[in-house]
Amino acid sequence: VEIDSPGSSTNLALKMLVELIHQRTGLSFDNSRLDLISSKISTILQASNFSSLLDYYYFLKYDNSADDEWFRLQSALAVNETYFWREYDAIRATAEEIVPRLLRDRPYQPVRIWHSACASGEEPYTLAIALEEAGNNQKDRIIIDATDFNHAALAQARSGLYKQRSFRRIPTEILSSYFAHNGQGRYQLNEDIRKRVNFSYMNLMDEASMGQMRNYDIIFCRNVFIYFSDAAIRQVTNWFYRSLNTSGYLFVAAAESLLRITHLYELVEVQDAFAYQKRLRSNDP
Ligand SMILES: C[S@@+](CC[C@H](N)C(=O)[O-])C[C@H]1O[C@@H](n2cnc3c(N)ncnc32)[C@H](O)[C@@H]1O
Repeated sequence: VEIDSPGSSTNLALKMLVELIHQRTGLSFDNSRLDLISSKISTILQASNFSSLLDYYYFLKYDNSADDEWFRLQSALAVNETYFWREYDAIRATAEEIVPRLLRDRPYQPVRIWHSACASGEEPYTLAIALEEAGNNQKDRIIIDATDFNHAALAQARSGLYKQRSFRRIPTEILSSYFAHNGQGRYQLNEDIRKRVNFSYMNLMDEASMGQMRNYDIIFCRNVFIYFSDAAIRQVTNWFYRSLNTSGYLFVAAAESLLRITHLYELVEVQDAFAYQKRLRSNDP
């Protein structure tokens, strides 16, 4: 796909496609990233049977059998870089302070945590290991759900098999206690930890499935909003608000301030981390 003169039909189709992708995924490609998206889309088109960009657009927008094509596009366009122990302060605050407090204050209710863009699983598994290390290993009382819209990343997460690059920040004693080297340059996470995280498919921009996510105490959504438009962030954080219990916490990455975007949450400090805590309001969204 070449973006030729402004107003050309290819350019127009590309703009329509970028807007459709934005509506369905939240991912925003402004003018500076238009080159990137057009080269990725042209790679996909070359390997497909679509005769034009417009054909591809209509298929994605209207065809009931477009799911697989959307999955392909989602995994081609979204960055799924992640690693163990990334921005660990928030995980530590969760494992050492928030979860123990909730377990103590609500003895008959499980603590429910949702990693909403978990990629290949390093983030939720870091939490599961941190909980184990903090002595909070009451499996039936701590629920960890993890979702993403990249099927290949979810398959890797379920397998618990990782290459060296996932371990750039992990303490060596954690690596040796929880992983086994499989001899082919990969490390396998132990089964006890793997069983503690429930992985499933979820698109953050899908209202129906987002509406089903209820009663969470803590939501992680880190290193995703940097790729989203403000409008999409506002939408998703409104839905998270409904998903959270009273005074529940939302963690985003340090670089992803929500202060300009939503007033539904209050910025609070928990140990060395910042979290957005659900505010009480009379007119919830
Ligand atoms: C950079 S990774 C971040 C992983 C992890 N949270 C971390 O901080 O290391 C971003 C992930 O967001 C996912 N993602 C992007 N847009 C999404 C959407 N609309 N719905 C669900 N997942 C999405 C991508 O598939 C990718 O796995």
